[in-house]
Amino acid sequence: MKTYRIITFGCQMNEHDSEVISGMLTQRGYMEAAETAGDPDIIIINTCSIRENADKRFFGTLGQLKKIKARNPDFVVCVCGCMMQQEHITTRIRRSYPWVDVIFGTHNIHEFPDMLQELYDNRAKAAASEPVNAGVSYAVAKHEIRSSRETRVDRIYDDAEEIVEGLPAKRLYRHKSFVNIMFGCNNFCAYCIVPYTRGREKSRCPEDILSEVRSLVADGVKEVTLLGQNVNSYKGEDRSGKQWDFTDLIYALSDIEGLERIRFMTSHPKDLSDKLIEAFAKCDKLCNYIHLPVQAGSSDVLKRMNRKYSREKYLEIVRKLRETVPDIAVSTDIIVGFPGETEEDFQQTLQLAEEVRYDSAFTFLYSPRPGTPAAEYEDQIPEMVKHERFNRLVETMNTISAEKNAAYVGRTCRVLVDGPDKKARGMLNGRTEEFKLVDFEGPEEITGQMVDVEITGSNTFSLRGKLK
Ligand code: SAH
Ligand code: SF4
Ligand code: F3S
Repeated sequence: MKTYRIITFGCQMNEHDSEVISGMLTQRGYMEAAETAGDPDIIIINTCSIRENADKRFFGTLGQLKKIKARNPDFVVCVCGCMMQQEHITTRIRRSYPWVDVIFGTHNIHEFPDMLQELYDNRAKAAASEPVNAGVSYAVAKHEIRSSRETRVDRIYDDAEEIVEGLPAKRLYRHKSFVNIMFGCNNFCAYCIVPYTRGREKSRCPEDILSEVRSLVADGVKEVTLLGQNVNSYKGEDRSGKQWDFTDLIYALSDIEGLERIRFMTSHPKDLSDKLIEAFAKCDKLCNYIHLPVQAGSSDVLKRMNRKYSREKYLEIVRKLRETVPDIAVSTDIIVGFPGETEEDFQQTLQLAEEVRYDSAFTFLYSPRPGTPAAEYEDQIPEMVKHERFNRLVETMNTISAEKNAAYVGRTCRVLVDGPDKKARGMLNGRTEEFKLVDFEGPEEITGQMVDVEITGSNTFSLRGKLK
């Protein structure tokens, strides 16, 4: 039996794609290799291209795999994910990384098991020194030493024609699951590569989502996280031709018996409806938590980012959310050093952060992505200035997070237990409805259960508690 290992970079979308890859390979009789089990037969790198350092880490990892190939010519290297949707990347791989065996993109994950089989067939043919079909549009290089190029299987599509349903997924957790509700993005924020790597927005049919969640629940899932780059623009059409928006979907999901929690990622402020805000109050299963990326606090920067909302509009949404659900937890993404960002613009980001008082924030240094409009903007910010602003912002954010978390001490929270802590023996981790991470002592057997935990301590990124 051949073994595989998947290395995943990037967001939940990629994590879930890796679960699907794993599900398909398991179905075909491949076996996941344990971290400790030495070299697997097959490595799959699922890449992300959101910032430059993601690209760099990929090429670093790829470089290391050459050594495995050198000692084991049967070793298989597969690369996929968002980086593969960019011509300049695949050109570089085709030219300079002859030990890569299979290249596929974000739109043909479902073809991967067949592509892998094709590779093994090509190798068998090459070994019998028959002429080989080296894959699509690839000129076979004449090498003295047989390289992967001759047998490589390489297929990328610019976009998907339709959504492929019914792919298996091997979940990381038994009690919770990601569920894609839509694919792609139409927003073209000026800094972002995603619309180029994931294609145009496509929403799944509501019945397909509902039946997937029903079977997940039958399989022990208590919490689902609905995934999309901008879930607020979900536009589903059911088999009777009726149109569903995102909130319709949430209400329908909340009727599923046995499902206890609904979360979603990510919500773009420009399309956040009053109907959704109301659903937070009306729908018990919808968790009191929203990730609402603001990106910048200055309307001028937001405009140049093509975010399609102003500082005022964003603050108004947060005000409405808090008016409807006073204890809702809010997190965000912020980019520091977008081209043309002045110290004054940055001060507005700091002020907005203090005004909203986020529970947590992901802060990023702006990274120019080739092919995006902002990468061509002339007023790029010097690295030193970016870093200096970044440090100030992180300090502000961390202080607020710590204060927010401290306010939980003394409360009792419902926690869905994720399992044993990776480092501390005898400790468990879980999440509150507000997505707060809680560490507490308890038996491993309660993994996957909803339990009450009294919060006894806190720090910047997590809470500590006592099982009740
Ligand atoms: N669809 C989501 C974001 C997905 S990307 C949304 O619109 O909210 C996750 C985060 O990466 C973004 O929110 C943004 O903060 C950050 N990001 C995207 N492109 C970036 C770039 N070029 N440089 C730095 N950060 C970036
Ligand atoms: Fe990127 Fe903007 Fe689409 Fe989010 S909404 S994925 S930031 S283009
Ligand atoms: Fe990265 Fe692609 Fe996600 S670029 S952040 S893996 S959609």
